[in-house]
Amino acid sequence: MRDAFIPGVNIGLVGHVDHGKTTLVSALTGTWTDRHSEEIKRGISIRLGYADTTFYKCEGCKGAEAYTSHPECPNCGEKAVPFRTVSFVDAPGHETLMATMLSGSALMDGAMLVIAANEVCPQPQTKEHLMALELIGIKKIIIVQNKIDVVTQAEALEHYKQIKRFIKGTIAENAPIIPVSAQKGVNIGALIQTLDTIIPEPVRNPDVDPLLLVARSFDVNKPGCSWRDVKGGVIGGSLIRGILREGDDIEIRPGRQVQIENRTKWEPVETKITSIYAGKISVTEAAPGGLLGVATKLDPALTKSDALAGQVAGLAGKLPPVWERLKFDVTLMDRVVGADSEQIIEPLKHKEPLMLSVGTAVTVGVIVNTKKNQVEVQLKRAVCAEVGARIAISRQVGGRWRLIGMGVLVE
Ligand code: GTP
Repeated sequence: MRDAFIPGVNIGLVGHVDHGKTTLVSALTGTWTDRHSEEIKRGISIRLGYADTTFYKCEGCKGAEAYTSHPECPNCGEKAVPFRTVSFVDAPGHETLMATMLSGSALMDGAMLVIAANEVCPQPQTKEHLMALELIGIKKIIIVQNKIDVVTQAEALEHYKQIKRFIKGTIAENAPIIPVSAQKGVNIGALIQTLDTIIPEPVRNPDVDPLLLVARSFDVNKPGCSWRDVKGGVIGGSLIRGILREGDDIEIRPGRQVQIENRTKWEPVETKITSIYAGKISVTEAAPGGLLGVATKLDPALTKSDALAGQVAGLAGKLPPVWERLKFDVTLMDRVVGADSEQIIEPLKHKEPLMLSVGTAVTVGVIVNTKKNQVEVQLKRAVCAEVGARIAISRQVGGRWRLIGMGVLVE
């Protein structure tokens, strides 16, 4: 049985800019995920944020009122019992940041689609993010109707009907819709109760080779610290399978770009795990679910400022192949959904540049071959991925990358 304080799933927050994703994470966890000064200045999330929280249940209260993320029941003040911990992945909602949203979705076991009740539904990124969940295959979805404090009951009901019309025929058709005010902390218990039922911990197989998708990487040293105290580079991400242990010899792929006789090549980076944090807890081994901070013996210059984001880590010699050219079967959508005008999606063309999201990696490539429903792309940055991996495909439309379809990697 997993420790109730170790995160067991990643729950994504997606939705249109300013609909309240970050405020909702804050209401659920007490942590504000907009941590970078630029984000605070501009008031929007730029990078992926993440935060953990433990859910508690009050034994004396009934229904939604029994669920809280505080050790004390806000309803009756009695001590509540911790029953599980989850990680939240907060994806930015701005249309220019779809790549970050897509790379975050690779980590999500389920997602909350946040829709503000004081705007007509759907807004462009409400549509585009739901489409992304659909393409990536995230089926466990909860719709959070936020900002109910600024609308009347009649307006909230009308907005609810708009949501119902919008999700009809989509992957979220039967998703529960929970009205909340993230800012005023209204109905958060009902949301936790719903999260607990809709996104349970999946059954995982511990006996397969571990695969960690790297979402962030850090240099955790303070500027000017003594060389004796320098700590190795840290990678942050999620295991999608297997187990990683302290002391494991690991490899990170594609790794480092090197120049050999006028050719650039990718060389895997090898290192050892020195410690692992699962959420706020130091552990000697980590299983899938939740976000991990993995400290290594790497030179911190290699991990600084998310330099290894999008790479893959696992036991030395046990990782999937690295591709500089990707071949994939393509399914295109009918229309571009993220922009105000919904243009028809034309077939892919030879020499066309595409933005591809594979796991947490985002890379640009140029089509070098097209066959019926299959293309081959020469990548700017290599990716490490398995045959069968899903690829989210975006193309330039009106000067922006827009999600247009999905691919499946073939050999
Ligand atoms: P991005 O991450 O940049 O896409 O934005 P976001 O979806 O995370 O929105 P954020 O949480 O930053 O909230 C945007 C604005 O809406 C802020 O000014 C919040 O204070 C406000 N807000 C969020 N939730 C509520 C709510 O329940 N009620 C009201 N009245 N305002 C809210």
